[in-house]
Amino acid sequence: MDMKPARHASASDADRNMLRSALDQAAEFDDTLRASRAQFEDMLTRYIAPLPYAQDALFRRLISGEPTVMSGVPAPTRGALAGLPVPDAAAALLTWLLRRRSKTRYRLYGAKGSERRYLTLRDAAAAWTRDTSVFGVADLHIRDTPMEDIIDPDALAPFNLLTASTPDVQRQEMYSLVISTRGYVTDSHSDAPDSTNYCFTGRKLWIAWETQEGLEHGLEDVEHVKVKGRARFDLRSWVKLPSARWFLVGPGQTLFFPAHLSHKVVTIDRYLGVGGFFFCLPGAFRLLSHWILKEPLWLKDDGANENEQLVAEISKAALKKLRQTGTTSGGDGTWGQDYLRLAADDFVKSCPHADLAKLQADSRFAPLLAAATQRA
Ligand SMILES: [Fe+2]
Repeated sequence: MDMKPARHASASDADRNMLRSALDQAAEFDDTLRASRAQFEDMLTRYIAPLPYAQDALFRRLISGEPTVMSGVPAPTRGALAGLPVPDAAAALLTWLLRRRSKTRYRLYGAKGSERRYLTLRDAAAAWTRDTSVFGVADLHIRDTPMEDIIDPDALAPFNLLTASTPDVQRQEMYSLVISTRGYVTDSHSDAPDSTNYCFTGRKLWIAWETQEGLEHGLEDVEHVKVKGRARFDLRSWVKLPSARWFLVGPGQTLFFPAHLSHKVVTIDRYLGVGGFFFCLPGAFRLLSHWILKEPLWLKDDGANENEQLVAEISKAALKKLRQTGTTSGGDGTWGQDYLRLAADDFVKSCPHADLAKLQADSRFAPLLAAATQRA
């Protein structure tokens, strides 16, 4: 995907100081992020500032495949957390976690080479509160668990078609609680679908770039390169990439992140949030073409070919949703159906001819494109 360099950020002095300090904190834990004064100035041209939530702006950015940080997106909370101001919701979430009695243990991921640890939810929350060791927890799935009492899994990405498809596709949503402490680094990697994250408390600094562009310039991605230790990354190469982007995600902010970007993430203030993967109509052509032309990551270790049908099933769910929502615009725009025509026109305009010919001969792509271009 072609990505134009980000516009020069007109960061105020306060923003500039805050960003410099955030970057310096991240560099304490990942020294590839140490930036000279000149490098930092270059980096500012790649910085993505948060936007106030507006559905129109979000859907347009999902079409273009730009990472988007928004403040004021409805919080994915319910029950005891519903309607609370962000700091109160964060405190209530922590209290709730500390009261869990389940004996189920979850793996804590620490620094590379550190001992494996498994803790219950309550003990992980207590360790997070003590803040004396560096760790992140994965696999804290929310659906069909008591966490659904306080987290509304459908509110984070109400336009998500992964949940409107087959059980195999639904599993790709992986809606989870995200817990990490200051200094926890997620090394350079990519994910198969688009992703979203909501932050209750804490801050993470994200560094992103288009996967293939990065590989061509020596930036490794653990999904694509066998890596010993840390994936290779250098700021000098990264900042020159047209696709280079960086941003912070903090309390009350929601991130929407496209699948074609590799990323590494440093927790700079201990973080509690929720996150998951999604597929939506405005991003449909961008993401389907990404999967069809490059093979989705879920086929990588899929010896039994269990995931071979996922793209077809997702495409079918998109087509079905389009039919349900009618052939003309208007009505409830939750699914982003009114942006599909724009997405199709935009895609056809920017897609290289050879790729477009391949996609138009593919039954997972062509029917949706035809249906979109018939819409008003
Ligand atoms: Fe990721």
